[in-house]
Amino acid sequence: MPEIAPLSNDHDRAGFDCGVAELNAFLKSTARQHVKKGISRTFVLTDQESPAVIMGFFTLTLCEIEAESLPSSYARKYPKHGLPAVRLARLAVSLKHQRKGYGELLLAEAIHRTVLISEQAGIVGLFVDAKNEGARSFYEKFGFASLPSASLQLFLPMKTLHAANSPT
Ligand SMILES: CC(C)(COP(=O)(O)OP(=O)(O)OC[C@H]1O[C@@H](n2cnc3c(N)ncnc32)[C@H](O)[C@@H]1OP(=O)(O)O)[C@@H](O)C(=O)NCCC(=O)NCCS
Repeated sequence: MPEIAPLSNDHDRAGFDCGVAELNAFLKSTARQHVKKGISRTFVLTDQESPAVIMGFFTLTLCEIEAESLPSSYARKYPKHGLPAVRLARLAVSLKHQRKGYGELLLAEAIHRTVLISEQAGIVGLFVDAKNEGARSFYEKFGFASLPSASLQLFLPMKTLHAANSPT
């Protein structure tokens, strides 16, 4: 059974390979440091049979978004200053486990946790910087929309987040 839990020292960070060196290096060398410093939180997907093996991970952090960077239909609803938001700072699935639905599973958990944050503190949405066109297509499948000024920067507004988090 796959399970998603906070990254800990019990997980084999060095053994993870998603094919993108920057993401592997973040998990290996930076993710735990950022957790300790309170900069971000990283969650890993493992299987109960091999609990140390990381099949995928995501990282959430908080950020500030300028209203003018949003599509105009959203921008006009907000005051013209920095708005609170959650950023999906990293998302990756190991090469061995890609295209089996685990990216979708991790994204659903990230959305669930973003909704919990919104209930406690208030945010305007979930933002992500896609690494490339393939990653952009992946996010668009789940309702993310590109920001007008940068097509690899995407966001999921609160209404879509709540819909995605509701049981079907
Ligand atoms: C992008 C990534 C997280 C997707 O995870 P995954 O486990 O392979 O994706 P899933 O199996 O959950 O796929 C979910 C859906 O997205 C689609 N999808 C996945 N990767 C895609 C890609 N590169 N381009 C287009 N669509 C893609 C799948 O076809 C699937 O759609 P379907 O259900 O209609 O078939 C994974 O491929 C990865 O880690 N890539 C390397 C790192 C990376 O680019 N991370 C993104 C950082 S911004």
